[in-house]
This record gives sequence, C-alpha cells and structure tokens, in this order.
Amino acid sequence: MSPWNLCIEYRQGNLGNVQKKSKQILDSGTWNIIMPPVMRILTGLQPSGTIHVGNYFGAMEPAVRLQERGEAFYFIADYHAMTTVHEPDHLRAHVRDLALDFLSVGLDPDRCVFFRQSSVPEVNELAWILGTVCPMGLLERCHSYKDKLAKGFAASYGLFAYPVLMAADILLYDSDQVPVGKDQKQHVEVTRDLAGKFNDQYGEGLLKLPEPIIAESTAVVPGLDGQKMSKSYGNTLPVFGAEKAMRKLIMRIPTDSTPIEDPKPTEGSIILQLYRLFASAEGYSAMVDDFLKGGCGYGDFKKRLFEAYWEYFRKARERRAELEAAPDYVDEVLRKGAERARNEAAKVLERVRRAVGLK
Ligand code: ADP
Ligand code: TRP
Repeated sequence: MSPWNLCIEYRQGNLGNVQKKSKQILDSGTWNIIMPPVMRILTGLQPSGTIHVGNYFGAMEPAVRLQERGEAFYFIADYHAMTTVHEPDHLRAHVRDLALDFLSVGLDPDRCVFFRQSSVPEVNELAWILGTVCPMGLLERCHSYKDKLAKGFAASYGLFAYPVLMAADILLYDSDQVPVGKDQKQHVEVTRDLAGKFNDQYGEGLLKLPEPIIAESTAVVPGLDGQKMSKSYGNTLPVFGAEKAMRKLIMRIPTDSTPIEDPKPTEGSIILQLYRLFASAEGYSAMVDDFLKGGCGYGDFKKRLFEAYWEYFRKARERRAELEAAPDYVDEVLRKGAERARNEAAKVLERVRRAVGLK
C-alpha cells in the first residue's frame, strides 16, 4: 500500500484501514515517511427538543463541514438531556428525531462515527474518575449551571456535574477539536482543566487536551424576537417545521412602524440577520439596498425571508422524509457507530484505569 492509496482510503472514509495500514508502513520502515496524524473532531448535541436554526448554524452545519477535515465522532448526548428531560417517551422521541435531523442535514455515516452517548456507558466511569480530581470551585463557576437554575430547573447533582460528564465525552476519545456554540466554550475549558489536573496527578500525556472550535460568523443566531434563538425563550425558527406554520412564524417577526415608502433601518434588523444566513451574498445585498431605498414593506421582506429559508432546507427536508421511511437504516447507522466508538473508548479507558491503579 502506497501513501497515495492511503490518501484514497482516507478520502473514502475507511479510517480504520488507514490507521492500521499507516501503522504497518511506519512499523515496517519501508517508507521513510511520517503520516500526519488524523485530527479527531468530536461533538455532541442534546436531544432535548425540536432543533432550530440556531442549533443548525451554531452546531450542526459546522459539524457537517468538519467531517471533511478529520476523523469525526458525533453523538447524541442522551445522558446529558436527562438533566432536563424527565419523560421517557419524550427522551426516546427526541433521540430518534435528532438522529434523523443530523443525518438529513448532511452527516455522512461513512465519513464519521455517529452514535448515542449512552451506547458507550463507559463514559460514566471516566466521568467518575475525572470527578475525583475536579475541584468544586471549577463547577461552581460554570455559568450554564447558574443559567439553568435561573430558568427554574431544580438544582440536581446531574446539572451540577454536567461539565464533568461532558469532559469525559471529549477525553474518552482523545479528541483534538471540539466544535461548539459560544455558550459551550467554558465547558471545553473545564475539560482542558480536568485533563491537565489528571495528567499532573497521574502522568503527563495520559489525556489529550482538546481545542474548542467556535464558528464566529454565526456564533449567536438571533431568535424571532431578537434575543439569542433558544428553545427556552420560545423564539425559535425550527429547521423542520410545517410550511404554513413556519410562514406564520416569520410573518410575525416584530418590526417598527416605518411607512412602506421610507428607508428602513438595517442596523439590528432581525429579518436581515436571518436572511443573511439563507441568501446568497448578492441576494443579501439586494435586500439591504431595498431596505435603504424605501418603497418595500416589511411584509415583502418577510416573504423573501421565508422563501430563502424554505429553499435552504429543501434537500434536507426531502432526505428526512426518506429516512423517516427507513428506521432500520437509522438504527443500523447508530449501532455501527456505537461499536466503533466503544472500541476507541476502550483504549483510553484501559490507559486511564492502569494510570489510576484500578488495574
Ligand atoms: P437551546 O438554547 O435552544 O436550548 P442548546 O443549548 O440545546 O439550544 O444548544 C445546542 C447547540 O446549538 C449548542 O452547541 C449551542 O451552542 C448551539 N446553539 C443553540 N442556540 C444557538 C444560537 N442561537 N446561535 C448559535 N448556536 C446556538
Ligand atoms: N453540552 C453540549 C450542548 O448542550 C452537548 C454535549 C455533551 C457536548 N457532550 C459534549 C458537546 C461533548 C461537545 C462535546 O450543546
């Protein structure tokens, strides 16, 4: 096998083969080459409700793009969702929906490892081990915990320990890069702190320190009321909503009372901010021009926004309908993903168990 063939296998997503073969090449010393290490990219999404445009641009779209850049591990964070979803049927439905959503927007199971977090229950063991080196103060400083309490969730141990489980998710797979929304950056920093503390205690290099990847251009997608789009604010534009209902939502975006013939303020316009996400660069500048020129009403702009949004997700909607009709395929993707994830997890856990004296 030549390095060139290895590249082809890599492009085809046969990553297991690439790793095996490149090790053989290096071990045999036949070629005096050093293969660049394959970047491992990992992220999780909570199955805690209907996905919206903020989730898509903040988390899913970057994840789909990053599949090309390395070995991607993406999972449905069902243990994490249990901190807020306490209805078993809801949890099951959200997991299924998120699997369909993620596959519909372009996740390619031949390129990435896609699995359910709870299919690798070993993550809880690593979370426990990390908990033993985790100072209370580190968790007390986490704003997502404080935010959840402010939103009225009961102060459970699960909510408090959430970042430790997230650190275990990341460290269990020797992740290099973690694409997340801005609000999750602190959790990746906690992960780095915990990995550092663990390594200080048990040996340098045992756990790999990951880097967060934050897509700045779409760091915060505004909701239909102008605040951050979030299911907790009830201001979301779902990715997969029914046409009539979605049109209605968009037509209800609040606007000022500038008369039709007058120029409209572009600064802070929710319509423009959302339109920018769906339209081409030319389409977007055309709308800005029409705002500035006057003569177009907000109703027209909203119609254009709806059309752009609806067109943007057309393919994903079609794919979703196909997948809905093929539940066995989706189960099989998750089963295969879980198998691969478990294999990887076993290696790290073995290293950790030995290091701490459990073995
Ligand atoms: P929500 O705020 O609706 O409860 P989650 O907290 O479940 O959303 O977020 C899931 C992922 O989507 C996270 O990576 C988060 O950073 C990202 N995300 C959520 N809302 C937005 C937004 N308005 N803009 C950009 N990214 C977002
Ligand atoms: N906490 C993340 C969120 O709410 C989901 C998540 C769980 C995650 N484990 C992770 C994200 C590991 C990245 C890496 O969006």
